Amino acid sequence: MVGIGFRPNFKSELFLYPESVDFLEITADHYFTKNQEKKEELNLLNNHFTLIPHGLNTSFGSAEGIDEKYVEKMAAVIEIVNPPYWSEHLCFTKAGGIELGHLAAVPFTNEMVDVFCKNIETVRKTIKTPLILENITYNFIVPSSEMSETAFITKVVNNAQIGLLLDITNLFINAKNHIFDYKQFLKEIPTDKVVQFHFVGAYQKNGVWYDEHAHAIHPEIWEIMEYATQYTHVQGMVLERDEAIPNFKELKQELETARTIFKNIRGNK
Ligand SMILES: [Fe+2]
Repeated sequence: MVGIGFRPNFKSELFLYPESVDFLEITADHYFTKNQEKKEELNLLNNHFTLIPHGLNTSFGSAEGIDEKYVEKMAAVIEIVNPPYWSEHLCFTKAGGIELGHLAAVPFTNEMVDVFCKNIETVRKTIKTPLILENITYNFIVPSSEMSETAFITKVVNNAQIGLLLDITNLFINAKNHIFDYKQFLKEIPTDKVVQFHFVGAYQKNGVWYDEHAHAIHPEIWEIMEYATQYTHVQGMVLERDEAIPNFKELKQELETARTIFKNIRGNK
């Protein structure tokens, strides 16, 4: 199954070509508002597509715990949408009551595994829908780390009993910037827990790769996607374009390529 991260910029084209996607990912936070227009947008999308909510600010890696008001807003969107699962990130976005404004990498420690497990348990009291968490990009490994990224991901996934959102582009970027083999990464994570992919183009400047969500997909990203489709239990692939959004035909083309990869490897599931 193939989906796209919904952006209002291509709403009308999406309704012209609804068959280009099997589902949409929505940024849940955009619908926390009381704004009538956004409420109507959510209802319209919900009436025409299967929606998967993607959260930005739960901050599962915050040692001080979870903001209950945020979780209530997330729960309200999930109740309207009734998705098979929802997704967030393996990161923190709040520390000491301060909003960081970006997805920050956590130290890969046993203590942080416990923080995630505790926070996931807290959120589960309000949101029963299964949760999947996404690997993020990082500029450096937090120095206090005691284990590899893959060992950390494996512990969180197994201890907290959640699924994985494997961001293929983030894997590509981290493998390039930190010089590791993506195939080895895929050997080390619980590939049977991968439920969904993200994919989008990446951007290189002065030898460093960035996830600006603003570019067409690099051939090596397609390669990783093909490989990861073979070696994981992925069910859905979501194109995540945020900036410099091209003509929808271009996005449709990328969705078609993803669909071909999925079909060739997994059949018509
Ligand atoms: Fe992503």
